[in-house]
Amino acid sequence: MTVTIVGSQLGDEGKGGVVDLYGDEVDVVARYQGGDNAGHTVVFGEEEYKLSLVPSGAIRGKVGVLGNGCVVNPETLFAEIDGLRERGLDPDVRVAERAHVILPYHRVLDGIEETAKEDSDLDAGTTGRGIGPTYEDKIGRRGIRIGDLLDPDSLRTKLEYVVPQKRALAEDVFGATTDEAFDIGSLYEQYRRYGERLAEEEMTVNAGGFLTERIEAGENVMFEGAQGTSIDIDHGDYPYVTSSNPTAGYAATGTGVGPTVVGRGEVIGIVKAYLTRVGTGELPTELGSVEGQTPEDGGRPEMADLATEIRDEGGEYGTVTGRPRRVGWLDVPMIRHAARVSGFTGLAINHIDVLAGMDEVEVGHSYDLDGEEILTMPPTSKQWARCEVNYRRFDGWPEADWEAVAAEGYDAIPENARTYLEYISDELDTPIYAVGVGPGREQTVIVETPFA
Ligand code: GDP
Ligand code: IMO
Ligand code: MG
Repeated sequence: MTVTIVGSQLGDEGKGGVVDLYGDEVDVVARYQGGDNAGHTVVFGEEEYKLSLVPSGAIRGKVGVLGNGCVVNPETLFAEIDGLRERGLDPDVRVAERAHVILPYHRVLDGIEETAKEDSDLDAGTTGRGIGPTYEDKIGRRGIRIGDLLDPDSLRTKLEYVVPQKRALAEDVFGATTDEAFDIGSLYEQYRRYGERLAEEEMTVNAGGFLTERIEAGENVMFEGAQGTSIDIDHGDYPYVTSSNPTAGYAATGTGVGPTVVGRGEVIGIVKAYLTRVGTGELPTELGSVEGQTPEDGGRPEMADLATEIRDEGGEYGTVTGRPRRVGWLDVPMIRHAARVSGFTGLAINHIDVLAGMDEVEVGHSYDLDGEEILTMPPTSKQWARCEVNYRRFDGWPEADWEAVAAEGYDAIPENARTYLEYISDELDTPIYAVGVGPGREQTVIVETPFA
């Protein structure tokens, strides 16, 4: 059986924690998209792990797979594996031969193009990890795949074709100066060596075949989504998005199992009880920006202090880049959209502890767009910017001994928080499987165990 974990908002909903929560019953955890732009946190006991490429199941000693839909920076991968080994873990990570490789020029071009876009406000505020340029090369059929690193002739041929184009793009189109990130000889040597290590450690696989064998043998496979629905390249706030599909359909395409395999399993939408965003783009329920926002921006600057409180209480700083996350109230049209796109069968709602102690908690229930009330996100960022939010207010709930609440179960959650949770579940017509009441494994209320 399979369980797919999908971010329902803008990333950082606590996906890594949920993968870890259910990880005990899992045999294999596979990532199906994205790369080292992700930052997934697993906390148990005194230990905290931040992972960007190694699937979160590694913390429980489970096999990890980076599927063909991922873009892999071997430097990050090996650094992360070495770091985990230093902490006493022994991560078993397999990488699809079909996965694409992030090269140094992709990272350079990511930065160059973001800067070029700034004047037109088209920059997405990327993580600078070269994600977009690598997916561009994949679609343009000029990418270098993990399989090529194991085949030096093929690596050389492809570098000789693509690197002069990249250098010309950087120098002639963007007027940048280039360095050894664009040097065929040194790239060849460095990436051939990564190939040797991948081969020595027997890390490469035909992901679809590997996963199918495990599923047919009765093992449990989890698909770990990165990022979130509203930064999906197709279903998100384009162009302020990432360059892959975090939504559940891609769990099939990005690993090589059939959509029916994914569809026969569970698809759990991860919801943060409020909203955060790193990077640019609209955020209709935003509580005042990091710098303090004016009413002309459509923000509610009087809420800026509250945003700071939530940011500090929730530790809302980017896992990968350290940037302060923008904060907003839960946007229900956004998560209705996510539930439909991915077909959620269950919800994990996190961070209700962060909202504890407030008099009132608000949610954006619907939008008014051009005189009409709408219940889901519109398709363009311009339309989204014109949306006026219809808020609903919920009575706040008190602080609690959250670990005790988690141990006791759902009914121990303060009543007003349960009212809030049940509103979300009703609006999405999806049952609650888990409620996060703190960052740790022991601070989660388990309602359903999907593999049972
Ligand atoms: P991911 O990218 O979706 O895996 O999420 P991140 O790890 O980037 O960000 C989530 C942050 O919130 C991490 O620091 C988690 O440890 C933390 N976290 C997860 N669930 C909860 C929760 O229910 N309450 C609190 N207070 N923190 C949580
Ligand atoms: P996890 O898996 C939050 C955002 C970036 C930027 C946009 C494009 O931890 O939830 P990219 O580098 O992907 O080209 O940047 O997407 N972004 C994320 N935001 N969580 C993430 O991952 C993100 N990965 C990318 O901030 O706005
Ligand atoms: Mg994250």
